[in-house]
Amino acid sequence: MGLIKVINRTLIKMRHNLSKKSKIKNKKIVITGSNSGIGLELTKELVNDNVVISITNENSNGINKIKNNNLQTLSQNLEIDDFPEDFISEIKKFKPNIVINCAATFGPKEQNFIKLESQKFNKILNVNFFSPLKISQYAFLGEHLNQVVNISSEMGSISRNKKGGFYYYRLSKTILNSFSKNLALELKQNNINVFCIHPGSVKTKMNSSGLMSAEVSAQKIINIISKNDAALSGEFLNINGDTIKW
Ligand SMILES: NC(=O)c1ccc[n+]([C@@H]2O[C@H](COP(=O)([O-])OP(=O)(O)OC[C@H]3O[C@@H](n4cnc5c(N)ncnc54)[C@H](OP(=O)(O)O)[C@@H]3O)[C@@H](O)[C@H]2O)c1
Repeated sequence: MGLIKVINRTLIKMRHNLSKKSKIKNKKIVITGSNSGIGLELTKELVNDNVVISITNENSNGINKIKNNNLQTLSQNLEIDDFPEDFISEIKKFKPNIVINCAATFGPKEQNFIKLESQKFNKILNVNFFSPLKISQYAFLGEHLNQVVNISSEMGSISRNKKGGFYYYRLSKTILNSFSKNLALELKQNNINVFCIHPGSVKTKMNSSGLMSAEVSAQKIINIISKNDAALSGEFLNINGDTIKW
């Protein structure tokens, strides 16, 4: 690892140790992608003072290490077109207050223009866009929804795209961003806030060279969720709660 990266990581950690850490309490929260990375760290923290449904893919090894009566795990591959009725009804009847759509796939290494295929793209869209959409729908039907938090990526920003490439991932996150903005406008009348958050450069399975730990990123996401600032609903936010250009 380069010296600059080591220094950056140390500085982030030091700043984090000194920063204010907000808590969320007594909420019902659905979190996807919670078997690893940021989703797992969000779950570890939130399950202490809230009731959580954690949605994982087939592998639940990470989440199974958390022993807490506030935690229920649903195993569901989000890549498929139609979810089973029992999965949908578990979410509705849970009556979530907060949904955190964290699951995503980066897609194949090969994402050159000339090799793009709609079938492959559809599977990635199912995980990165249609699942956040559908899970938000089921949660809304539970009638206690207060916040939707879509974990997006700066790579979905059109104005910040200076390098190109990574079509499947970029496009899926751009659609998620656009959806978040639209949903925020629609759900304003229901007093439901929608936040679209870039979690930073985070060292996880998806990004082995990330700068921040998943624990630090998760705490910063919790800080934003705990504020639940209606003025920021429908904005694209970085991890410190500042707006990013779409
Ligand atoms: N790490 C970064 O630097 C970074 C930067 C920008 C944005 N993000 C975003 O942050 C979020 C969390 O990612 P991460 O960095 O924590 O990476 P991660 O550890 O790879 O987490 C992604 C999670 O999504 C789940 N997932 C993927 N495909 C799925 C499927 N078909 N069905 C159900 N679950 C599925 C994965 O489960 P399985 O592995 O078991 O399939 C995994 O637990 C993602 O939305 C990502 O786009 C991350």
